[in-house]
Amino acid sequence: MAYAENTRTALVTGANRGIGFEIARQLAAQGFAILAGVRSREKAATVADEFKRAGADVEPVILDMANSARLPEALVELESRHAPIDVLVNNAAILIDGPGGFNSSLFELSEDVFRRTWETNVLGPMLTMRALMPGMLTRGFGRVVNMSSLAGQLSNMGKGYPAYRVSKAALNALTRIAAAEAAASDADVKVNACSPGWVRTGMGGKDAPRLPEKGAETAVWLATIDREGPNGGFFQDKEAQPW
Ligand SMILES: NC(=O)c1ccc[n+]([C@@H]2O[C@H](COP(=O)([O-])OP(=O)(O)OC[C@H]3O[C@@H](n4cnc5c(N)ncnc54)[C@H](OP(=O)(O)O)[C@@H]3O)[C@@H](O)[C@H]2O)c1
Repeated sequence: MAYAENTRTALVTGANRGIGFEIARQLAAQGFAILAGVRSREKAATVADEFKRAGADVEPVILDMANSARLPEALVELESRHAPIDVLVNNAAILIDGPGGFNSSLFELSEDVFRRTWETNVLGPMLTMRALMPGMLTRGFGRVVNMSSLAGQLSNMGKGYPAYRVSKAALNALTRIAAAEAAASDADVKVNACSPGWVRTGMGGKDAPRLPEKGAETAVWLATIDREGPNGGFFQDKEAQPW
C-alpha cells in the first residue's frame, strides 16, 4: 500500500526539467509538499510557472549539486526555512562523456569530465544523504531514492560512457551503505536506487522510447512505499534488478 499522508515534505534535485520535473509533479499530485531543486535563481523563476501550468504546487529551491563547498550549508538552510525533509530524491545528474557515446573510450576520458561527473553524480548525492538522513533517523521516518541507471550495473558493465558508468556504480554503492545504516536503526527509513529506463529527455535524447511520465514511475513508487517496502534495492519498472 502506498503512503498517502499529505504532510510529508519531499526534495527532488534537478527538478526543473526531464524526469526530475515529472517526479516532483507526480509527488505533488499525491499531496507531498515539494521542494524542487534547481541550479540558479533564473531557473527557479521559470520553473515555478511551468509547475503552475502543470497544475502542481511546488516550491523551487536553489541547490547546485556540483557546489560541494556550499551544498551542506544550503541544505541546513533549506530545512530551517521550509520543513524537515522526509523524502529525498537524488535525481540530478550529468552525462558529459564523449564524443562518441557508447563508443567513448576510457583511454580518451579527460580528468575534467571524470571530476565534474563525480562531483554532480556522486559527491552531491553523498552530501545530501549525509546532511538529511540523520534527521530522518532521529524523527523515525524517511525515504531516499537515488536515480541511478542500468549503465551503473557491475553485473553487466560494458564500455562507453566511462565517467557516467563509474558515477552510477558509485551511487549504487552509496545506496547500499546508506540502506545498511538505516536498517541498523529502529527508524522507518528506506534507501533504494532505481533506473528510469531509456527516457526522452535532454539526457536520453529524442529517440528514447519512454516519456518522462513513465521514467518517473518507479522513483515515485519508492518515495511512497510503506514500512513493509524494500530497503537497499535497485529497481526498474518496480522490479528488482541485479547490481
Ligand atoms: N534519460 C534517460 O534515459 C536516463 C536513463 C538512465 C538514468 N537516467 C537518470 O535519470 C536522472 C534524470 O535524467 P534526465 O534524463 O531527466 O536528465 P536531464 O534531462 O539531463 O535533466 C537533468 C537534470 O539535472 C539537473 N542538474 C544537472 N546538474 C546539476 C547540478 N549541478 N545541480 C543541480 N541540478 C543539476 C539539470 O538541471 P539544468 O537544467 O540546470 O541542467 C536537470 O534538471 C539522472 O540521474 C539520470 O542519470 C536517465
